[in-house]
Amino acid sequence: MLATMLTPLARTPARRSAHASAAAAAAAVRGVATWAGVQMGPPDAILGITEAFKRDADARKMNVGVGAYRDDGGKPFVLSSVRKAEAAILARRHDKEYLPITGLPAFTKAAGELAYGDASPALGRLAVTQSISGTGALRIGGAFLQRFYTSQQQQPTVYLPDPTWGNHGAVFRDSGLAVAKYRYFDAATNGLNLAAMLEDLRAIPRGSIVLLHACAHNPTGVDPTAAQWAEIRTVMAERGHLAFFDMAYQGFASGDADRDAAALRSFVAGGDIPVVLSQSFAKNMGLYAERVGTFSVVAGDAAERDRLLSQIKILVRPLYSNPPVYGARIAAEVLNSPELRAEWLGEVSMMAGRIIDMRRALRARLEALGSKLSWSHITDQIGMFCYTGLKPEQVDRIARDFHVYMTRDGRISIAGISSSNVNYLADSIHAVTKD
Ligand SMILES: Cc1ncc(COP(=O)(O)O)c(C=O)c1O
Repeated sequence: MLATMLTPLARTPARRSAHASAAAAAAAVRGVATWAGVQMGPPDAILGITEAFKRDADARKMNVGVGAYRDDGGKPFVLSSVRKAEAAILARRHDKEYLPITGLPAFTKAAGELAYGDASPALGRLAVTQSISGTGALRIGGAFLQRFYTSQQQQPTVYLPDPTWGNHGAVFRDSGLAVAKYRYFDAATNGLNLAAMLEDLRAIPRGSIVLLHACAHNPTGVDPTAAQWAEIRTVMAERGHLAFFDMAYQGFASGDADRDAAALRSFVAGGDIPVVLSQSFAKNMGLYAERVGTFSVVAGDAAERDRLLSQIKILVRPLYSNPPVYGARIAAEVLNSPELRAEWLGEVSMMAGRIIDMRRALRARLEALGSKLSWSHITDQIGMFCYTGLKPEQVDRIARDFHVYMTRDGRISIAGISSSNVNYLADSIHAVTKD
């Protein structure tokens, strides 16, 4: 018994059987804590691409694997509105006291307004907490649903689109939820398979948790149209499902922050579907490393909001106590200052516009090269990513022969393309797809 308590591996029996070596098991019996049985984990897929890219000495090399915006010179981009907000904050010489558990009120209030709309009636009953960017918001949401979502008898299941952002499954599994998929992408058209999606949403148990990308679906770049969202909404309401919106790219899809929140807002306006939201400012404010986001639940009324918030605090406190302040101050400054907000919205639109321009240029060049394949999906898809349709062997070949690095599912980050290398990328794609 004591040996079990002392041995770190022994605390998770399921993992122990999968990973512990005989040496670790023997040590456990002796009551000695050891890490000998911890095996090397696989490298993160995206970071592996970056490593391979860094090792490549070819001058033409391109990294279109990473989901971060680059300017047309291929450089990381700090928004001018963000720089100005930082200067204003520094001039105020804030103290470094802890934030409340749910974060900086000036930030969470403004973030809620941005997501749900300034005039949304949901704002008065929104249980919102600051989070460690979008990932942390998903993780709090997972933990919250694991503890409180009682619509289903057993362990709640979250249904993810197939495919989805690579981290979703791990985040929700680590939160204690079961994870399953619903069909989303149609490889034949490189578009949405709405019929299959609706069929799956009808077939899964009543009251399931359904993860929806609010806009700029990652990795496919395929978003439902407004009419398709209405159909999805109808089925979700009929089946009593809960909508978990992940909004990591508000403004990045269309260049218009309100338009990109339209699906979320339509679900809230319907009033017949429970809605929770994870929100990130990593991409749309370029605050990647500052880790700024929110998790929110649309409650039924203000009293319910207060009860939910009290429980969210109880969840957050043992996770990280309270969130970091600097990035939240920047976002609050940008959102609450009319001048900075206007400048920021212009910059979001500029970033989205550059991405749209690169999509057009890539497609035009592929067509000009006489490719027999259809490339219309490059401009039909939206947001930072494009699912090119390249097969894993073609991805391997384009890296080996052309020094172009992308994930093996053929996803490219359009934000990683510039006017100086878009033709090279098109030529490389053509070379590996023409036979
Ligand atoms: C769909 C989706 N959700 C959430 C995130 C989380 O990002 P972050 O934790 O940097 O806000 C990302 C980042 O790539 C994403 O693509």
